[in-house]
Amino acid sequence: MEHRIKVDETHLIHASQLDVPPRLLLGPGPSNVDARVLQALAMPEIGHLDPRFIELMNEIQELLRYVWQTDNTMTIPMSGTGSAAMEATLANSVEPGDIVLVGVNGYFGERLCDMASRYGADVRRIEKAWGEVFSLEEIADALKMHRPAILGLIHGETSTGAMQPMEGIGKLCREFNALLLLDTVTSLGGAPVFLDHWHVDLAYSGSQKCISCPPGIAPFTMSKRAVEKLKRRKTKVASWYLDVNLVAKYWGSERTYHHTAPINMNYALREALRIIAEEGLEDRWERHRANAERLYEGLQELGIECHVAKEYRLPSLTTALVPDGIDSKAVSSYLLRKFNIEIAAGLGQLAGKVWRIGLMGFNSRRENVKLLLSALSEALEAAG
Ligand SMILES: Cc1ncc(COP(=O)(O)O)c(C=O)c1O
Repeated sequence: MEHRIKVDETHLIHASQLDVPPRLLLGPGPSNVDARVLQALAMPEIGHLDPRFIELMNEIQELLRYVWQTDNTMTIPMSGTGSAAMEATLANSVEPGDIVLVGVNGYFGERLCDMASRYGADVRRIEKAWGEVFSLEEIADALKMHRPAILGLIHGETSTGAMQPMEGIGKLCREFNALLLLDTVTSLGGAPVFLDHWHVDLAYSGSQKCISCPPGIAPFTMSKRAVEKLKRRKTKVASWYLDVNLVAKYWGSERTYHHTAPINMNYALREALRIIAEEGLEDRWERHRANAERLYEGLQELGIECHVAKEYRLPSLTTALVPDGIDSKAVSSYLLRKFNIEIAAGLGQLAGKVWRIGLMGFNSRRENVKLLLSALSEALEAAG
């Protein structure tokens, strides 16, 4: 034989035995998921144009409209992670030369700027310190100064633990004829989100945080105003994969092939959303709020302060200040090693200064708060 197999298969068979530790995921996502979601993921494959799958697609759209509190027809799960849906909002709404104003008060605002610039936007920034939020006056002044086509904001900044108050911003955007784009990756399913009431035109989320589904599928929605801007485009959407004109042929009435939908991820998302509907949004928001409060109190008892002012804290993600003289990495490694608990380090400007503690969806539980606080107390002692 001219060509020989490169690697000995016996070695590969051993290497492929899957063995993962049983982690409690109390970081910035992914979160653990309900066994029902894992069971849905393991259901047999059907075709992406199977009549049953088409029914499932409609059900997922209806559930997504519910969690987002929107009537937007164009509400779908994008195939990909949160960043794919994030990029889809920009790819479809930005034409080269459009002014895009971005609220930058953390890592994900920076990512929005980067993505918008790749689609030819004239990116303008309104900045706040990491951990702070924008006031309505600051946003009004920035809209007046920049006259953007789009204002992009992060509702729940996962890098800082701050939640942007939304009341009044959408109305301002309408006055200035700007579309409002909102990142709800870490807030959706864990804190009140009212897309239509807030006049949000473009929004995206991730599956792996408060929705408690594995990562790999990402909610995306566009208002009528955003769809109209898409229809008026003079240039083609620069991404083929994320072009809503094309994707809509599969998710809309035509049902023609665009790309093969990740079938089992859609099963999992549907089950995760169904669990949210069973609990009820208001009860779920209250559960996140109450467990976040328990965490704040417990941290305080350990002598640990929170980075964000109380009124602007994101209930699903808390940034806890690392006390002086403590090596943040030594503590998080101890939690992982001794307790199988994952928490995360700070990102960017907050690296080494905070721990990021997530209580998201399935994991926002009183018993998890107790367990974490007790493990953290031991880890702090071990770290001196
Ligand atoms: C606020 C925010 N936006 C966007 C993303 C990107 O999502 P993904 O990592 O799923 O691509 C994340 C992920 O952590 C996030 O927290």
